[in-house]
Amino acid sequence: MSRLLRVKPMSLLSQEASEEGENTLRRSLSATNLITLGIGAIIGAGIFVLTGQAAARHAGPAVALSFVLAGITCAFAGLCYAEFASIIPIAGSAYTYGYATLGEFVAWIIGWDLGLEYGFGAATVASGWSGYFNSLLQQLHIYIPPQLTATPGTILVFFHQRWLPLSSLPPGIDSTALPHATGLFNLVAILAILVITTVLVVGIKESANLNSAIVVVKLAIVGIFLVLGVYFLIRHPELARANWHPFIPPSDGHGNFGWHGIATGAASIFFAYIGFDAVSTAAQEARNPQKDMPLGILGSLVVCTILYILVSTVLTGLVNYKALNVADPVALGIDATGVSWGSLLVKIGAVFGLGTVMLVMLLGQSRVFFSMSRDGLLPKWAADIHPKFRTPWISTIAVGCVVAILPAFLSVDRLAELVNIGTLLAFTIVCAGVWVLRVRHPDLHRPFKTPLVPLVPILGIITAVYLMTNLPLITWTVMIGWLLLGLIIYFGYSIKHSKVQKLPAGVESD
Ligand code: ALA
Repeated sequence: MSRLLRVKPMSLLSQEASEEGENTLRRSLSATNLITLGIGAIIGAGIFVLTGQAAARHAGPAVALSFVLAGITCAFAGLCYAEFASIIPIAGSAYTYGYATLGEFVAWIIGWDLGLEYGFGAATVASGWSGYFNSLLQQLHIYIPPQLTATPGTILVFFHQRWLPLSSLPPGIDSTALPHATGLFNLVAILAILVITTVLVVGIKESANLNSAIVVVKLAIVGIFLVLGVYFLIRHPELARANWHPFIPPSDGHGNFGWHGIATGAASIFFAYIGFDAVSTAAQEARNPQKDMPLGILGSLVVCTILYILVSTVLTGLVNYKALNVADPVALGIDATGVSWGSLLVKIGAVFGLGTVMLVMLLGQSRVFFSMSRDGLLPKWAADIHPKFRTPWISTIAVGCVVAILPAFLSVDRLAELVNIGTLLAFTIVCAGVWVLRVRHPDLHRPFKTPLVPLVPILGIITAVYLMTNLPLITWTVMIGWLLLGLIIYFGYSIKHSKVQKLPAGVESD
């Protein structure tokens, strides 16, 4: 039992954090790079795709309140992440924090669980990306065989010059006379992941610059959507009144709509916030991690929360929530303003914008494996640094290949729910970890302190667990299966190869 509870000594972590040289990652990211990295990771399929589905299926116009609820949950967790990231500024995120505080076993669970967040997260975004990409191509009259653009068994129909899932056909249209096709697998999403993986192997600095440029484009698109949308709604207040009424549609008795629907919606669009913690996985590549990590995490979270509440409110004002269950709801919203170039612009922005999210997610995943491998919990090759590019190239390629398979076969909402449950579990453990560390190491130098401990961590745990309870049973089942697989690997390999287990007893009290 005591083996499972062994923590990684703070002295060892600080030493790793200050290591320089050939076998280390390059310290090249500034505070601005980190905030852009955060925004690059955060704004993505959540707001561009899932908002529409959450409004149509769960919350109606009150999806804006779902964003408030999910934002509050993230704020508590973000404050805890910021404290950890300032104390332990090395790659690995929640995994590393767990190792320093709650012991190796919990650290393993978090590290493995982060696979659900980053790996499945990148897959979710790839799936959302393919929806916008196909829609963009079809607007330009370029058609990929529809069978290669959807998950197996999805029925597609050809309507208004484009292939759509049957479920997205506007109400009242008879589909029997329309051409049909059945999805085989989503080749477009596979290719997206493979391209991003290549960018990541070539190097973090190049990736960060590309990311910064695309984040500007993405923010500009969101800004244009808001300006056009608000201007249109001011001129058509009757449309806004009709679409926002009732703001909280009555419950359907199955957990959708009504107040409960707001919570279900929050558990679903929670995905939109994921990514601010990915900033912490780049800590080892930050120039001044102690000061800049909290800035990166909290700064990106605040910017995105404000934008989400605005975008979801404007979107449900422009289009009735019942019609938003489509692959490209923001493009549909801008179409409603009558600005003919708007939807093309949104689609181009989404195609580039969602690309940066995949980039940060895959970056996070390979960095977590890098840290786990350096600790001996995964085989050595996962920490192998490329001599020229100085990136953990083997783990990046391995992650890319596995992740590429997921969106080919699983739909965006299923994937997102899995990511949400995995991330909420990680949040819970991080919040608990901050509290534990305050008790165990009260005198540790904390460049950033989470306010009101233990209240903030406790509220973080309660809100995260509450959102988890609003996710479907199948999601819980898959998460438990994933964790069981992790346990087999831990007891079969990791515990025997762990470097911390080989340290003399008592070292962790340093
Ligand atoms: N928050 C990211 C997104 O919405 C993961 O795509």
